[in-house]
Amino acid sequence: MASKPSNDRYLFKNNAADNHRLDRQFHIYQKFFDKGPVTLAGFLDEKRVNKVLDVAAGSLAWTLDVARSTDPSMVELHACDIAADNFPPTSVIDAFSINTFIHDATQPFPEEMKGQFDVVNMRLLVYAFSEDQWKKALKNICEVLRPGGHLFLFDYDIVWFNGAETDPNLTAPWLSSLNRMFLKQAQATGYVISLSESLPDMLAEASFAVKEQVSCRCPFGMTAKTCLSVNGASLAGDEDFTGEMAQMITTRLSTGALAGGYLEDNSGKPITTEAGRLQWIEKYNKEIGIHGVTIQGTQITAIRV
Ligand SMILES: C[S@@+](CC[C@H](N)C(=O)[O-])C[C@H]1O[C@@H](n2cnc3c(N)ncnc32)[C@H](O)[C@@H]1O
Repeated sequence: MASKPSNDRYLFKNNAADNHRLDRQFHIYQKFFDKGPVTLAGFLDEKRVNKVLDVAAGSLAWTLDVARSTDPSMVELHACDIAADNFPPTSVIDAFSINTFIHDATQPFPEEMKGQFDVVNMRLLVYAFSEDQWKKALKNICEVLRPGGHLFLFDYDIVWFNGAETDPNLTAPWLSSLNRMFLKQAQATGYVISLSESLPDMLAEASFAVKEQVSCRCPFGMTAKTCLSVNGASLAGDEDFTGEMAQMITTRLSTGALAGGYLEDNSGKPITTEAGRLQWIEKYNKEIGIHGVTIQGTQITAIRV
C-alpha cells in the first residue's frame, strides 16, 4: 500500500481546527488587494466547460468562492491537498460537485491530468516549501495546465515590518529580534525569504510568463487601523483576528527555533528551555498585540507558455 504523503516542512501541520482560520483569512487577504469574490471572468473559454484546480487547497476557501461566484455550467472544479484535514464536510464538497483528491504538489500529477487545466490556483505555501519544493511544484503545475492556461499565486515574504519602511534594519528592536529568528528559521528549513522577489524567476524557469504581479504591505493587528489596501481602501476592522494570526505564527516558529537550537534573546544569548521560550514569546506577542506588524504580500498571475 502506498504511504500517506506528508510534508515535514509545513509549519501548521496536523491542525484540523485550522479550517475556520483559513476561511476567514482568505476573505481578509482578498480585501488587502481590493478583490471581491473570485469570478474567473476573463480567464475562461466561453465555448466550453473549463477545468479549474486549487492546489494545496486547505479548507477549499478559494474553490468554494469560485463555486459560489462563477456560472457552474462553465467550470469543473478540482481541489487537492497533501492532507484532507481541513477539507469541508462531504456534503459541502458534493453540493458544489468538487472533485477533491490527496496529492503532494512536489510530485508529478497523474498522467491523465497533464495539459488538462485552464486555471490553477495555489496560495500560502511560504511556511511549507523550500526553494527546491517551489521549483518542483511549479513544474508539476505547468504540466497540468493547457498551453495558455493561467496560474494564480498568492503568498507572503518572511521578514516583518512595523509599517511602510522598506529596510528591515530599520524595524523596532523588538521586531528585529523576531526577524532574526525568522531568518534563522528560513536558513534551517529552506523557506524562501522573499517570494515577492523570487517567484518571477522561479516561474520563468518553469516555463511561465508573468502577466501581472501586485505586491503590497499587508497589515496584521493594529497596523490595520492605518494601512490601506492596494487601491487605498480602509482595512480597519480585523485587527484582533490578524493580530492573533501573527502571534500564532511567532508562537509556532519559536517552537521550531527552540527545537532547532537557534532561539535567542535580544542580546543574542541562546534560549534553551521551554520556560525560556514561553517567557520570550509572551514578551514579543505582547509587542505584536500593541503595535501590529506589516508583511509584504504578493499576488501573481502567470501564463503557461
Ligand atoms: C497555509 S495553508 C493554505 C491553504 C489554502 N491554499 C488557503 O489559501 O487557504 C497551506 C496548505 O498547504 C498544504 N500543503 C503543505 N505541503 C503541501 C504539499 N507538498 N503538497 C500539497 N499541499 C501541501 C497544507 O496541508 C495546507 O492545507
